[in-house]
Amino acid sequence: FYTIDDFDLEDKTVLVRVDINSPVDPNTGLILDDTRIKLHAGTIKELSDKGAKTVILAHQSRPGKKDFTTLEQHARSLSKILNHEVGYIDDIFGSNARNAISRMQRGDIILLENVRFYSEEVLKREPRLQAETHMVKKLAPLADYFINDAFAAAHRSHASLVGFAFKLPSGAGRVMERELKALYNALSNVKKPCVYVLGGVKVDDSIMVMEHTLENGSADYVLTTGLVANIFLLGAGFDIGEYNKKFIETKGYWDYVKKAEELLKKFNGKIKIPVDLALFIGGKRVEFPVSKLPNEPIYDIGTETLKQYAEIIRSAETLFANGPAGVFEMEDFNIGTEDLLNAIASSPGFSIIGGGHLAAAANQMGLSGISHISSGGGASINMLAGEKLPVVEVLKQVALTYK
Ligand code: 3PG
Repeated sequence: FYTIDDFDLEDKTVLVRVDINSPVDPNTGLILDDTRIKLHAGTIKELSDKGAKTVILAHQSRPGKKDFTTLEQHARSLSKILNHEVGYIDDIFGSNARNAISRMQRGDIILLENVRFYSEEVLKREPRLQAETHMVKKLAPLADYFINDAFAAAHRSHASLVGFAFKLPSGAGRVMERELKALYNALSNVKKPCVYVLGGVKVDDSIMVMEHTLENGSADYVLTTGLVANIFLLGAGFDIGEYNKKFIETKGYWDYVKKAEELLKKFNGKIKIPVDLALFIGGKRVEFPVSKLPNEPIYDIGTETLKQYAEIIRSAETLFANGPAGVFEMEDFNIGTEDLLNAIASSPGFSIIGGGHLAAAANQMGLSGISHISSGGGASINMLAGEKLPVVEVLKQVALTYK
């Protein structure tokens, strides 16, 4: 595929898709960590320095979630990091957005509104069909090039991620280039035993990867944490209490309980589930064995589980971790996430960790010893599982068209 180096950007309008989806405090609505914003700032600065009129497209969270917000704060944060004004436009492709783009001067940077405010964006469709969405049809005629830097969303065949490449000469941004290089390198050298640590709340991605890697033998053990672990505990017949069951239901993951049960039977002993958990009771952390869980919110994995997991991590030659072990934003409940990260960092094996939240936690802890911290969670584990990433496939495909 093409990269920024292949285009003359002077005075050209460039649409750049980044992934600055960031952890946001559900109560205050404030961005808790700007790791991804800082990461993409490099690509944006380069485009602007090369004389482009840079129009940024990005998403924040998913419809229905508490951190599904506008990108106003992201624009402010980006302006500060770049020391260059980033205009925030509260519109995606309506006349406000289009007029703002046509008024831009060389070097200008604007950030359009959260693309997921637009319902067509999140329809999963084959890439070529995404080129016919209203967003792509309205914005593409105003631009000269499309740069995709959103590695962390490269596993999604969404309109803003795959549609523009069929209408505009397109290439990869610097974050995309770096991530793909690091992950291809890792993939070409997987040493055994290979251990996956899968947590967080994106159960769909984790289960897909688990199934794939256990099936093809590339994973030797999968250690489950976070919401993923709760679903496997249910699948193993443990009672996790009404509160936690309801939480799984509201997230739309109930059907995965059956799947978890099947996977546990099929890959006997390879999928590890917690033996104890930390619950949020009276504002404090209280640990219980999984056979005696009261009906209270589960916020972290327990100390005994950590010990068992750390031992497996120590003996791994290759480690891939995605998603936090619990509600790591709360001091009492960051123990699981931090201890696992410490264990991974001090393991002599090759390690990749991914996902916005886990990467943010690792950066905040200032850990060294992790081989690669990927900005992408779902994207990196899908890639490691051998899945083709729609965004990368499209970039490769259209590069051939424009040659
Ligand atoms: C991520 O945080 O993994 C990416 O921004 C993709 O988000 P999504 O899983 O909501 O598509």
